[in-house]
Amino acid sequence: MGTSATRIQYLRRNLLGRKREVVTRVISTEDEGDQNEIISIMKEVETDTSIARDEVIEKCQALYEEAQTIPELHRDAHKKFLDASFTNDLPPQMAALDASQPWLLYWTANSLRVLNEKYLTKEYQFRICEKLFAISPTGGPFGGGVGQLPHLASTYAAINALALCENGEDYWDMVDEKAIYDWLISLKQENGGFKTCLGVGEVDTRGVYCALSVASMLGIMTDELTEGVVDFLVDCQSSEGGFGGCPHEDEAHGGYTFCAVASLHILDAIDRINIPNLAKWCSQRQLDPERGLSGRSNKLVDGCYSFWVGGTAAVMELYGLDHLINKSSLRDYILYCCQNGSRPGLRDKPGTHPDLYHTNYILLGLALCENSFNLSDNGKAVQCKPLPVTAPSHLSSINPIYGLPTKNVQKFISHFV
Ligand code: FPP
Ligand code: ZN
Repeated sequence: MGTSATRIQYLRRNLLGRKREVVTRVISTEDEGDQNEIISIMKEVETDTSIARDEVIEKCQALYEEAQTIPELHRDAHKKFLDASFTNDLPPQMAALDASQPWLLYWTANSLRVLNEKYLTKEYQFRICEKLFAISPTGGPFGGGVGQLPHLASTYAAINALALCENGEDYWDMVDEKAIYDWLISLKQENGGFKTCLGVGEVDTRGVYCALSVASMLGIMTDELTEGVVDFLVDCQSSEGGFGGCPHEDEAHGGYTFCAVASLHILDAIDRINIPNLAKWCSQRQLDPERGLSGRSNKLVDGCYSFWVGGTAAVMELYGLDHLINKSSLRDYILYCCQNGSRPGLRDKPGTHPDLYHTNYILLGLALCENSFNLSDNGKAVQCKPLPVTAPSHLSSINPIYGLPTKNVQKFISHFV
């Protein structure tokens, strides 16, 4: 922006279409009248997204007005939803997730453990481990299903799923740390990122997070593995304050931001980024009156960002920034708007259907809202402490860095490190 003037370009609503007339206004940013004019111009601009947002607002407001008191978490219904996915054949529309089988195991097992650690029975644990070692009989790295190429995302999900199981039948000892380490090194790129898959994979903050999460859980972090990674991540912070997937002004997004910020925590390098900008961007993700979080500027609230953005805020809480989001409002969004009285499972927003991905990340988000986070043991351990909330959901303590219950992270890491 110039010192005293800003140039606003906007499309006249009635001219949206083939011939788009751009209207240019030059106005002073110091003049209060002009500032108000900018605001009213922005309000005038109607887009598909602004129309969709108005509909979401209407549905959320109806749900907020309908209930006399805050709804409780429909624990039994959500448990049934999760049990069904371990018991029944998955519906045909889920064929698209054929390359994400370790993800399905992680989302389902984690949701059960977050609801109540006892819900993940020995029988489920046995079936999870059998499936994972059918995908990779040699103990990793893991692909998305039997006969599929190893992939960073499926290896991350497989290691998380294993961590959710006890070490029954010595499954943890079947993991081949050396093979996983060598494979991670082979994915390393000159710019500090990791390719998700040998040969064809993309390189972004998701890959970095998956690689570092796996390596730190298995105790295979080395200077060779982490060389150049901090610089890659620092360059992914956009001028908005959040992180894009790739270095140098990619669009900031909640998913990529969580991956970058959790990775920077693992690398003990949070001090390398612009923290005030990140803090501001996180706070801007919470929309009023919906109360939920959006993943990026000018987009809609979605329950899964309760973890991707809420988790970013929880990581920053470890560094003393504890007011980036309003946890009580986010809790409202989850309990009023992500549940449907007549249907089990948790959903993105009113009007959408529940699924395993949203159930997992919304339950994690709810746990973030009902707990506070700090570092203990000289900065080495993440502590999760219950906040005083009315009618707590009694979820497990969670570790926001790994998106897993604290207990499972502790047990798994101490087995390997
Ligand atoms: C946009 O979706 C989604 C992205 C740009 C990427 C999201 C990334 C994650 C959720 C992180 C994944 C993490 C791991 C560990 C693999 P959209 O356009 O449908 O949604 P939006 O409108 O809310 O942006
Ligand atoms: Zn979502």
